[in-house]
Amino acid sequence: MSEASELQHQTWSKDQYTISTDPSLIPVKRLNEAFASDDMYWAIPSPDSVLRETLDGSLCFGLYQSQLQPQPPQPDSELIGFARLITDHSTFAWLTDVHIWRSHQGRGFREVADRLREGGHG
Ligand SMILES: CC(C)(COP(=O)(O)OP(=O)(O)OC[C@H]1O[C@@H](n2cnc3c(N)ncnc32)[C@H](O)[C@@H]1OP(=O)(O)O)[C@@H](O)C(=O)NCCC(=O)NCCS
Repeated sequence: MSEASELQHQTWSKDQYTISTDPSLIPVKRLNEAFASDDMYWAIPSPDSVLRETLDGSLCFGLYQSQLQPQPPQPDSELIGFARLITDHSTFAWLTDVHIWRSHQGRGFREVADRLREGGHG
């Protein structure tokens, strides 16, 4: 498995929350709705197939809330946070599209984004 695809299969869980780097778990419709919202004023919604390609080509971090067992997240788990690194997986990484859905803000998730920012440029 290449380093890029290994990185796309990472999972971390705490309490009822899970972070996964698997881009295939991210519901593109839900993400596109966030892209279209004022919260993500810099983002532009794309056709689902284009967004899927964007996600597959990025190192994505999906934050999921699971009411049952914390991991692994299932394709229908609720996506409550998102960030992605545009990266060559070795020398360069740019953090972008950081978003926590409104009803889940204010619970300290900014720290997760800060940690990602420390690892990349952005
Ligand atoms: C920024 C964001 C990811 C923080 O998530 P969160 O769950 O609310 O974060 P936390 O609970 O850990 O922290 C809240 C703190 O972040 C601050 N904050 C909220 N939005 C912020 C922003 N865009 N930039 C900097 N700080 C922000 C709040 O004022 C609060 O500060 P305080 O703790 O000093 O009161 C979330 O508010 C969000 O998704 N906002 C909309 C999208 C956005 O602005 N993304 C970042 C673009 S760089």
